[in-house]
Amino acid sequence: MRKTIFNDFMKPGNSREIEKLFNSISSKYDFLNDIFSFGLHRFWKRKLLHILNPALGEKWIDLCCGTGDMTILLAKYMKSSANIIGIDSASQALVVARERSREDYSLIEWINGDVLETNFESNQFDGILMAYGLRNLSSSYEGLREAFRILKPGGRAGILDFRSFEGVSMQGLFQKSYLSFYVVPIASFFGLGKEYSYIKKSLVNFPSGSKQINMALSAGFRKAEYQTLAMGQMGILLLES
Ligand SMILES: C[S@@+](CC[C@H](N)C(=O)[O-])C[C@H]1O[C@@H](n2cnc3c(N)ncnc32)[C@H](O)[C@@H]1O
Repeated sequence: MRKTIFNDFMKPGNSREIEKLFNSISSKYDFLNDIFSFGLHRFWKRKLLHILNPALGEKWIDLCCGTGDMTILLAKYMKSSANIIGIDSASQALVVARERSREDYSLIEWINGDVLETNFESNQFDGILMAYGLRNLSSSYEGLREAFRILKPGGRAGILDFRSFEGVSMQGLFQKSYLSFYVVPIASFFGLGKEYSYIKKSLVNFPSGSKQINMALSAGFRKAEYQTLAMGQMGILLLES
């Protein structure tokens, strides 16, 4: 029944294509991320950590961890890399993540897998993070359902992504222009124009903040709230199970 209600939110995403796309950009991903966000993505990720306040001894997972940026920030915040898992479907992104964490964050466990079907036992994580992953899933709703399933009762989750705008707004127009006239041309210079033009497409069916809240509550979360960042360009969905 829930699935039917939220069919509107589902994207015609092709998981294999997404996996191929992120494998192909993995070696330049972090470099380009810094250019595109003027380095601010780390500030937004840290802000998310400060809100969620993961504590030493808790078990956390970073869903759609990619090259491990958020996962490593989590380990830095917790002052330990024990009990931290990063999971992603793109094996090449995990090669970068493993390399980055080899010396100082060697206890992080990297898993190559699909966050829509994790195979983890239910109710085992104290906390969940997801940065720029939800928008890329073939179903945001199924992603939230799986996150809810693996989170302990009382656990918390934070999901950071681009904000999706409904209707016409100055902020929405700014976002479209930023992606079309800044991100794609720079990515093209590095031979990745087609790959990065995907961001704009991925936002077309991505639910707005209020829809994300409704979706999360329907997926089972007890509490859901949405905050905007970066002058309204980014959003974080904060959840409690
Ligand atoms: C935009 S990147 C974000 C990476 C990282 N979280 C960050 O903030 O830098 C999105 C990631 O989601 C991953 N992804 C997309 N669909 C997935 C799925 N179904 N299961 C696991 N990972 C997935 C991609 O492989 C990619 O690494």
